[in-house]
Amino acid sequence: MQAIDWSSIGFGYIPTDYNVRCVYRDGAWGEIETTSDTNISLSIAATCLHYGQEAFEGLKAYRCPDGKVRVFRPDENAARLQATCRGLVMPEVPTELFIEMVERVVRLNESFIPPYESGATLYVRPLLIGTTAQVGVHPASEYLLVIFVTPVGPYFKGGFSTNPYVITRDYDRSAPLGTGCYKVGGNYAASLKANKWAHEQGYSCEFYLDAKEKKYIDECGAANFFGIKQGTYVTPLSTSILPSVTNKSLMQLAADMGLKVERRQIPIEELATFEEAGACGTAAVISPIERIDDPETGHSYVFAPDGKPGPVSTRLYKKLVDIQYGIEPDVHGWTRVVIDA
Ligand code: PLP
Ligand code: COI
Repeated sequence: MQAIDWSSIGFGYIPTDYNVRCVYRDGAWGEIETTSDTNISLSIAATCLHYGQEAFEGLKAYRCPDGKVRVFRPDENAARLQATCRGLVMPEVPTELFIEMVERVVRLNESFIPPYESGATLYVRPLLIGTTAQVGVHPASEYLLVIFVTPVGPYFKGGFSTNPYVITRDYDRSAPLGTGCYKVGGNYAASLKANKWAHEQGYSCEFYLDAKEKKYIDECGAANFFGIKQGTYVTPLSTSILPSVTNKSLMQLAADMGLKVERRQIPIEELATFEEAGACGTAAVISPIERIDDPETGHSYVFAPDGKPGPVSTRLYKKLVDIQYGIEPDVHGWTRVVIDA
């Protein structure tokens, strides 16, 4: 293996030694297979290719200062994948199978888990695809679940440092009764144009409004939104956003810290009242928001006038990351030791 400069890697793809796979056929999941082949062989008529019958997940494994390797809330990712499966009429992946595959692929690729000091982590990417060859639009009868890993650095520039974001009114990533609440490739395909537009103007990412009324903040292309004001953690309630494991965890940590937690619609104008704001997700962790610009009204909602992350976001970030790295006591039982010291 070529030496990797862990502290300089971005959120990309570095192939590793092994991935694990499981096939669903004749109404049942088969045995877990291990392979070092990073390609898959598929029929040109597979349903995932034509009709987007594909789902994915994202979680991380952490090399901790105590020498152990932990993964964070894999049961939550399993539950969300099951919800996605129901949404796309795919067979549900049992939680035990999901966790066993996650643990196995992390152990097999131990040499790719970045050191604690680097700030990089091992990203775990489960992928479920319909593989039946058919041209009619109906669910496949055969599926492939692959879980691979890749070492990653920060998703948004600078990691825990503030970035500018922009509201888009010209594009929706999902519809109110569509697939926004599921982790499916189509949502991300739908976000590429708006994301390109945002990047071309120097923004970190685009923020979507609710698709129906365009009145409320939904989320950005790859992370949920939260705002902090007067001792309250506020995050959107919407049918078209992904239920984020990170956000769910932050809501709990905020409550533990004595903050009030509100999950409700957030009118755009309310952005002016937040003292701090952040984008949160597995890849983003917390990406503190410097400002959100609204090109239509010309309004710039500034959350970090000095360019620095706010005190509440900083406390939440530290608490979350310290639990993930086994530094803080894991009072909620969120972490799972995959490799012992
Ligand atoms: N929203 C979207 C659209 C995402 O892709 C992600 C990433 O998974 C999130 C939110 C954050 O979810 P989680 O915290 O479970 O990673
Ligand atoms: C994640 O945060 O895990 C994501 O999946 C976001 C993005 C890489 C799609």
